[in-house]
Amino acid sequence: MKNLLAPPHVNFGLQVDILANGLPRLRIDEIGGIYQRYNQTASYVLIAEPDLMASSAIDVKSTRDTDVLCFRTSTHQQLEFTVQHNPLRLTLRNTATGETLVDINANDLLHMEHYRRRSDTDDTRVEGMWEETFNHKPDSKPKGPQAFSLDIDFPSHAHIYGIPEHAAPLALPPTDGTSPRRTPYVDNSPPYTEPYRLYNLDVFEYEASSPMALYGSVPLMHAHSSRSSLAVFLLSASEMWIDVKHPSNHSTSTQWMGESGIIDLFLIPGPSVEDVFAQYASLTGVVQLPQQFALGHHQCRWNYFTSKDMLGVVDGFDSIDAPVDVLWLDIEYAEGHKYFLWDKRKFPDPVDMIESIAATGRKTVNIIDPHLSRDENFYVYQEASDRGLLVKRPDGQSEYEGWCWAGASSWVDMLNPAAWDWWISLFSFEKWKDSTRNLFTWVDMNEPTVFNGPEITMPKDVLFHGNVEHRDIHNMNGLLFTNLTAQGLEKRGEVNERSFVLSRSFFAGSQRFGAVWTGDNLGTWEHLRSATPMNLANSISGIMLTGADVGGFFGDPSAQYLVRWYQTGAFHPFFRAHAHIDTKRREPHTLSEPYRSIVRDVLRLRYTLLPLWYTAFRSSTRNGMPVIRPQFLVHPGDEAGYDIDDQFYVGAAAELLVKPVVQEDAQSVGVYLGGDEPYYDYFTHQISFAKEHIHRTLNIPTQLDTLPLFIRGGSIIPTRERARRSASLMVRDPLTLTIALDHYGEAQGRVYLDDGHSFDYTRDAFIDRNFTFSSISSDVRGGWALRSTQLEPGMSFTEGEEIEIERIQVLGLKEKPEEVITSGQLLQFTWKEGVAASGGEEGRASLLTIKKPLVRVRDDFEIVG
Ligand code: NOJ
Repeated sequence: MKNLLAPPHVNFGLQVDILANGLPRLRIDEIGGIYQRYNQTASYVLIAEPDLMASSAIDVKSTRDTDVLCFRTSTHQQLEFTVQHNPLRLTLRNTATGETLVDINANDLLHMEHYRRRSDTDDTRVEGMWEETFNHKPDSKPKGPQAFSLDIDFPSHAHIYGIPEHAAPLALPPTDGTSPRRTPYVDNSPPYTEPYRLYNLDVFEYEASSPMALYGSVPLMHAHSSRSSLAVFLLSASEMWIDVKHPSNHSTSTQWMGESGIIDLFLIPGPSVEDVFAQYASLTGVVQLPQQFALGHHQCRWNYFTSKDMLGVVDGFDSIDAPVDVLWLDIEYAEGHKYFLWDKRKFPDPVDMIESIAATGRKTVNIIDPHLSRDENFYVYQEASDRGLLVKRPDGQSEYEGWCWAGASSWVDMLNPAAWDWWISLFSFEKWKDSTRNLFTWVDMNEPTVFNGPEITMPKDVLFHGNVEHRDIHNMNGLLFTNLTAQGLEKRGEVNERSFVLSRSFFAGSQRFGAVWTGDNLGTWEHLRSATPMNLANSISGIMLTGADVGGFFGDPSAQYLVRWYQTGAFHPFFRAHAHIDTKRREPHTLSEPYRSIVRDVLRLRYTLLPLWYTAFRSSTRNGMPVIRPQFLVHPGDEAGYDIDDQFYVGAAAELLVKPVVQEDAQSVGVYLGGDEPYYDYFTHQISFAKEHIHRTLNIPTQLDTLPLFIRGGSIIPTRERARRSASLMVRDPLTLTIALDHYGEAQGRVYLDDGHSFDYTRDAFIDRNFTFSSISSDVRGGWALRSTQLEPGMSFTEGEEIEIERIQVLGLKEKPEEVITSGQLLQFTWKEGVAASGGEEGRASLLTIKKPLVRVRDDFEIVG
């Protein structure tokens, strides 16, 4: 392959592989260059080197000008990948529909700098080619220019999503200065004129709508239309910029520019949204199944200053009967910001404190930032230095030094395999005596933040193991840290506990190692509005356990604002309140009435829904689907929903629809109802239909204590109606099933239960049930049956054997049953008249309540009425 911009003796190679499941992978690299471009990103990000399709399954037709590869994906799509040689153009086509899915280099923007010696060229005249400065900070660029660019068109897809992290609408607006299709959530936000930037950075007071870089990056872009869904994944951890425009109403054109490394591009052909997620998960893996407590409420603040302060916060929650699972400690717990070392003046007996908190059913998390204070008496720094595990200056010899909270600091080089076991060992109970199995970890500042570095991060020319420049791996630095920290937690002692790590910086694959959050948001209404699209963007990029600082990190917002934040955060997967050191205390118990009670009730609502959340996460570990889903994923054929990102669905089968209230003093909100299923108001059981000819936008009044929440008709949702002090205290509680019937009077659902903390579920210690509610063909008028069957055979979850179903409520049934029976026994029930889902009328749904159904969750059963 020739590059028009390179001299004739320079060659580039294009390698096309078809993976076993039918994903084309394209790699472009310089051949015989004077250096090797960095090509190891995949080994840290992919779960394994992907298997290739047998060559016998690929039909290759070559002519002088083209090579055409025809093959079938595991989703039975018949695809054709064409390499046109001159000019180079790569296209992926669905041969059954004739649709061109992806068109690469149609705009001639594929370019890769070739390596050259400074002395061999007169390129020195081009500014920035051999060195650059940013804010007076030099980048020596020892290998000279090595950027790449390529254009990727989606000729048949007008909607694109993904490439987090940006505070931007979910349906990515164009970057060519033209107006987005939908009014942005930030008033008067101008159209974007800069490309989306992927360069993990610690950005002070970031804008609420902007393509600017933030803390994490996932170079995965979805393209969606009513005909098909697909994605592209450009696996590079160097800085990237992505331009987006729409040449027509039904197409999208993108240009990707990267600073260094090879081009390693995966085409993810779908065609259904579910296929796209399964295919992406086959590359980067699925979410780690979180411990139950991770799905509860987390209370953080910079800072709780003493053990007494911490225990006081626990008491605060108990005093108002509000649940909380985790109490967090920010950097001030650590002596001189030397993480792992507790400041014993403030926390004289950390183990005693952690265990006192644990005795109330709660966990503790403390922060371990990756910068190490260069203090010779600090054992962590000393060990890393003695073993040569620290990032080096561009000279490759001396330790790189920068500034962070701890003052003069150095950073562990996570590319060095010798650093891995050492880092893991720091968490062992023998070594870290001031820790217990109830202590978990928050990794912050891991972009990494360097206060005196260019753009507040490390210079691009500092060196990692193997003389790899920071520029080549920057965006995956956080991923490496999270990976090793999660391993540290899993391997400390013989604990058989899943890890819990929260990381600010993330990359493709970070889902395997824990949670992320959206960093230092502001306590403003527009930042509250940006939180949902940001968390949806993370979710559709595989990062499932994602949340934002509830309440906003900066500022002292009003009580009304805090209530609206809790109502929103309670439906984000990771639910943590956090605040800056300069803010006033704002824990729920410090609020006045009625705000305090409203927040407590929202917390309790989150806890009653934990079985639904947990089931959704378990389901995601199997199919890679997000636990919160935007409109386009749930109704992929409904074009009117493609730009919607201010409401979303929760659950393994998107059972709940939530529309957070994010406008100050809002009197009402409009909820978009997609599809043709009935939607049941969660609290009043009012049925509304989505049918186009009735109405699609439902106006809901929004008093401060109301939150628009609906059950989608056709769902069966599991809840635990008694919210206790923490999630771990609820794992053996009985379940309630709420059955919201669809137009046909049917519904289905599932519930997954295990011990909520260990790896025993990987050895069959779980309960996984499938529930169906359907009409039965019998002579009984209006007869129906609720059946419970085993979904996956779990064998040995002994603790769960006695868990009962304590109540079943059926919404929208046509008629009061004459009797309700299980295994020949009559069951007690109550009946409230109301409308039937199948009747085509709106109104309050009928309600059948079976109080004591006498069944255990683990059993097969049938209840008929
Ligand atoms: C920056 C983090 O984003 C924030 O959450 C934290 O409180 C401060 N660092 C102090 O550790």
